[in-house]
Amino acid sequence: MARILITSALPYINGIKHLGNLVGSQLPADLFARFQRGIGNEVLFLCATDEHGTPAELAASKADKPVAEYCAEMHEVQAKIAKGFGLSFDHFGRSSSPANHTLTQHFAGKLAEAGLISEVADRQVYSNADGRFLPDRYVEGTCPNCFYERARGDQCEECTKQLDPTDLITPRSAISGSTDLEVRETKHLFLRQSELRDQLDAWIDSKADWPVLTTSIAKKWLHDGDGLQDRGITRDLDWGVSVQKGDEAWDGMEGKVFYVWFDAPIEYIACAKEWAEANGKDDAEWERWWRTDKGADDVRYVQFMGKDNVPFHTLSFPATILGSGEPWKMVDHLKSFNYLNYDGGQFSTSQGRGVFMDQALELLPSDYWRWWLLSHAPESSDSEFTWENFQQSVNKDLADVLGNFVSRITKFCRSKFGEEVPAGGAFGEQETALIADLTKRVHAYEGHMEAMDVRKSAQELRAIWVAGNEYLQSAAPWSTFKTNPEQAAAQVRLGLNLIRLYAVLSAPFIPDATDKMMAALKSEDRDWPSDVAAFLNGLPEGHAFAVPDVLFAKIADEEREEWQAKFSGTRD
Ligand code: 2FM
Ligand code: ZN
Repeated sequence: MARILITSALPYINGIKHLGNLVGSQLPADLFARFQRGIGNEVLFLCATDEHGTPAELAASKADKPVAEYCAEMHEVQAKIAKGFGLSFDHFGRSSSPANHTLTQHFAGKLAEAGLISEVADRQVYSNADGRFLPDRYVEGTCPNCFYERARGDQCEECTKQLDPTDLITPRSAISGSTDLEVRETKHLFLRQSELRDQLDAWIDSKADWPVLTTSIAKKWLHDGDGLQDRGITRDLDWGVSVQKGDEAWDGMEGKVFYVWFDAPIEYIACAKEWAEANGKDDAEWERWWRTDKGADDVRYVQFMGKDNVPFHTLSFPATILGSGEPWKMVDHLKSFNYLNYDGGQFSTSQGRGVFMDQALELLPSDYWRWWLLSHAPESSDSEFTWENFQQSVNKDLADVLGNFVSRITKFCRSKFGEEVPAGGAFGEQETALIADLTKRVHAYEGHMEAMDVRKSAQELRAIWVAGNEYLQSAAPWSTFKTNPEQAAAQVRLGLNLIRLYAVLSAPFIPDATDKMMAALKSEDRDWPSDVAAFLNGLPEGHAFAVPDVLFAKIADEEREEWQAKFSGTRD
């Protein structure tokens, strides 16, 4: 049994995520986690809210709440919605946890010991109107790289370039909008990433199987211009991990905190400790996932994230780990995503444009969204959500293909043989051909899932559903029954077993539908179909079942139009 550590990029605490955020990290991570558990591997799937830095402070002040209280509440909100979407985290932690404070300060201490942190008199934007320094997102302005006008002080959303607030053209305060800004001197810590450039370069070269999207972004920041820059890792903020070397104070750094992008990825590790603590496990239990000297050398670690997060995961976080000189597990495979656009424009949290996770669940159960989002994941390029496409995919794939198959076979069986798997008859040529076809397809599906090719996996799964429908159409047990009821019994028996096959294979994509199919089949056995032929004899003759309620309701044109209109503007 392999051991797979999976992390999804940590959602910022500042509000509810939109469907574009969901499909770029948490949802495909969940798909992979469910698949790996399904095939019998040991999985630790971690995620947490990213709670420090300017996004949290700004959102709390907008909500008129103390930041700690705001974060505690929003964590609960996000946890509940994640549950609603069936995100099967083993633990959903918080980057503000005591475990992360301690570990972040520990890393800083190790990096300092290794001579990889320098104290630099830094120039920072000061707002006369606000009477304070303006780190990161407290400043907005025009990106010097692509000239996008709403770039934030830490990163340009448009071209993904990591920025410093002083880089922005025509900067303004995000608090007051004031442009009465000046640059003042203050002391900050810098992580000397440039010292680690060759080590990082070699490490990235060793990852031949990484997607081009990932390596090309990493290589660009390693080599373009002056190459990898040292990076400020402290900020003048109140909320965050206070700057210390382990448990020792750091002279001259009083009142400062670590930069959110320094402590957030460390939460991937701290979250495992939180998981252990929450489940009464000792340190050895989480360390066997994270310390290569304590058992993690045979762990496969996979990270999921949107493309804007790639520089931090391929360079900054690995620099922290490599620089510490300690035997922490490093990422083996990094799966990154392009952006999902919304109906002719972009999803936008700041402008409230698009469909947000809570709103989606108010319209339809999570499986509808999971299926559409995953089968249209923005892998090789950006993709677009349109209501027409959503309606079409739900109605065809889920209702016509899968739902209809389940309904037809169970209802037909009930009417002719009663609510149990019919006995008699034997599989003929058509059945043998179907089993051979499905055996091939299930292997292809496993291959795509293993490779994290999300769209290809969805296509193959759909093809597996279609194969069953086509079989049913051509075997036509309703006709066979008239002349050869024994043969019809064998066909129906195969059909019922196909439902169980679909239930088990579809679980990573549409877990609630799986539960319904398994409940209808009165079966608990979810073992992965490694031998398709044997699996299709799994439900024995005489095994009872019940006809389930409609698995997926179709979306009517009027509903689609109503939703389209409702979500055409912006959220308050
Ligand atoms: O882009 C984001 O939403 C960040 N909160 C992701 C952080 S990932 C990690 F490293 F913590
Ligand atoms: Zn830009």
